[in-house]
Amino acid sequence: MSTRRVTFQHTIEYEVVNTSNLFQPHNWALLSAGRIEDSRRFVVVDANVEKIYSSAIRDYFAYHHVEARIVAFPGGEENKTMDHYLSILRELDSFPIHRRDEPIIAIGGGVLTDVVGFVAGSYRRGLPYIKVPTTLMGYVDASIGIKTGVNFNRSKNRLGAFHSPQKVLLDKSFLKTLSRRHLLNGVCEIIKLAVIKDAGLFDLLETHGAQCVDSHFQDEAGGIILDRAIGGMLEELEPNLFEEDLARKVDFGHTFSYGLETRYETHLYHGEAVLLDILVSSLIARGRNLLSDEETERIFRLTDALGIELNVSVLDPSLLWASLTERTYHRNGLQRVPMPRGIGGCVFLNDIKANEIELAVKNLEDWIAIKYDHV
Ligand SMILES: NC(=O)c1ccc[n+]([C@@H]2O[C@H](COP(=O)([O-])OP(=O)(O)OC[C@H]3O[C@@H](n4cnc5c(N)ncnc54)[C@H](O)[C@@H]3O)[C@@H](O)[C@H]2O)c1
Repeated sequence: MSTRRVTFQHTIEYEVVNTSNLFQPHNWALLSAGRIEDSRRFVVVDANVEKIYSSAIRDYFAYHHVEARIVAFPGGEENKTMDHYLSILRELDSFPIHRRDEPIIAIGGGVLTDVVGFVAGSYRRGLPYIKVPTTLMGYVDASIGIKTGVNFNRSKNRLGAFHSPQKVLLDKSFLKTLSRRHLLNGVCEIIKLAVIKDAGLFDLLETHGAQCVDSHFQDEAGGIILDRAIGGMLEELEPNLFEEDLARKVDFGHTFSYGLETRYETHLYHGEAVLLDILVSSLIARGRNLLSDEETERIFRLTDALGIELNVSVLDPSLLWASLTERTYHRNGLQRVPMPRGIGGCVFLNDIKANEIELAVKNLEDWIAIKYDHV
């Protein structure tokens, strides 16, 4: 028997760039990667975004004499499917682009950037691509990492790949047209990061969060919160881009939410499921003296102050337990559930019991009942 060892090192490098007026002809950001002269771009745009910016996008590429194929893609979790993945691939296959210097451009929410990222990662074994998030969920989370994927076989993100973008272009003016529910959906991921990692971010949310939601994050405090949330996310993602370490702080809120999202795909948005998980987890943490009563209260008061509606009727303890069991497989046999230790701190638990989940759900339901009694 003989063995030959193959070793190759590949550096992952991409830029996350703050920009504005992305479709103004003088802004080169969209064309700052790849060749411009005599070139083509395959551009996939969220259908709701396309309605608003259709002519601006077309004018932009026409101005730069770049031949663009612009494909509208319907957002929404129900469209994160193999069928949509394949239909984008067919469009791409009919519009040949160079493999190295004509990056695909993905403009939309987390659903679109996940699906188009998977297209880019799999077509001809990988093409460069640029992500432009247009939802808050995309802006602070989905667009800035390297995970791509589609839902498959009734499981979320069951097919996908790690495929890094060439650039991520952040233009927060896209958030102006986002519905309040989708804004709050993204805010849930900011709350996640604040509770598990950044007490200062939590303070900022307490002080300015409600006003930032009202302004669609266009005010100064909104900019500060967005920058801080993205900085914190990148700090967590960068040293562990390929998730070799399965104990990840950013998985806070992503243990019980998995089952909720799978069962209630069209009713419950990703961030809404994450927030329910955060609250159940906080109550479990409270039960273990990882959070004080006062800290737990602060988390609940913040969700209230931000005006987030909680649909606790979906919280079935057996579903949450099944979700934890599934995530334990996903995390290679250990629960590795991130839990807050004080606001801004984190520990990983591997021994959560079904009765702790039951008690946390009951406490959460009681809290909601008391809250609505007072209204
Ligand atoms: N890859 C990752 O690391 C990662 C991280 C977090 C979330 N995600 C994924 O992100 C997805 C959720 O993303 P999402 O919440 O952005 O959903 P989404 O992409 O479905 O967008 C939500 C809705 O907003 C609309 N929309 C998009 N931009 C708009 C704008 N500027 N103005 C008005 N409407 C606009 C869309 O058409 C859609 O109806 C989930 O599938 C989740 O799994 C991925």
